[in-house]
Amino acid sequence: MTHTPHIAVLGSANMDLVTYVARAPQRGETVTGREFRTLPGGKGANQAVAAARAGATVSLIGAVGTDSYGTQLRCALAQSGVDTDLLRTVETQSGTAHIVVDDKGGNAIVVIPGANGTVDALSAGDEALIASADALLLQLEVPVDGVLAAARAARGHGVRTILTPAPAQPLPDALLAATDLLLPNEYEATTLTGVFDDPRAAALALLSHVPEVVVTLGSRGSLYAARGAEPVTVPARETTAVDTTGAGDTFAGALAVALAEGRPMADALHWASAAAAVSVERPGASASMPYRKEIDARANGPAQGPAS
Ligand code: RIB
Repeated sequence: MTHTPHIAVLGSANMDLVTYVARAPQRGETVTGREFRTLPGGKGANQAVAAARAGATVSLIGAVGTDSYGTQLRCALAQSGVDTDLLRTVETQSGTAHIVVDDKGGNAIVVIPGANGTVDALSAGDEALIASADALLLQLEVPVDGVLAAARAARGHGVRTILTPAPAQPLPDALLAATDLLLPNEYEATTLTGVFDDPRAAALALLSHVPEVVVTLGSRGSLYAARGAEPVTVPARETTAVDTTGAGDTFAGALAVALAEGRPMADALHWASAAAAVSVERPGASASMPYRKEIDARANGPAQGPAS
């Protein structure tokens, strides 16, 4: 029997206000959309749901507001098995993300942080939770002070830190110094390094700051680089995207679970790719995330072709 991993997540919970439209409007243009949905999201909550559905025991450290979105977000997390004891309710609005999804499944997002903006320090309970975890998942939709405090706490207790540097922004050296595995997409890797159109070179540049890097490449799979080894690419799984929102979060959650189970990196990346492939076939972020059996089924299916 595989050990059930315990994953801690510090990050955002947003209500996603999603419009589905053939083509996103350009500046000054009005277009008529097809559908509007209110769906749970936020990079922290998404990664927590992804890891819980993938089979881990998961706790989310964060904050929601006193509005009805806060209640709905807490409820949705609990339904996926995420422990919300350390998810505070604060006297403000919950975070919202205003998302346009086009007919190719691509999206554009504006995030209003709301309660997520209060997650700037750790309580003693937060630190104890992090200390007891196998891994800590972090992203950048809460203040960087909170992310840094969590990363340092994890580092102090020997807990692996996995940072998704999204939304893309320059990172303080102290945060990179407390990061074990950096998980950018191509755009974020470029923002961090200034290297365009060359994920391999960007990953190698990032290795001067962190020991391990995985650059996610969408339908082209992912690229793994570690100090002292040749980078390897892992292809994506076959899929047809209707909504890619949260695909990176699905990948991060599943990857954390597989690594905490002690699987080798290449296997873990294959499995995480399978999880992401399933998630993009369904609308929404957290709502689209697959359960372990679905990930296993897809992981054993055909690959989409070689990653570039
Ligand atoms: O990573 C996807 C998430 O980004 C969405 O769920 C949305 O809330 C934005 O934060």
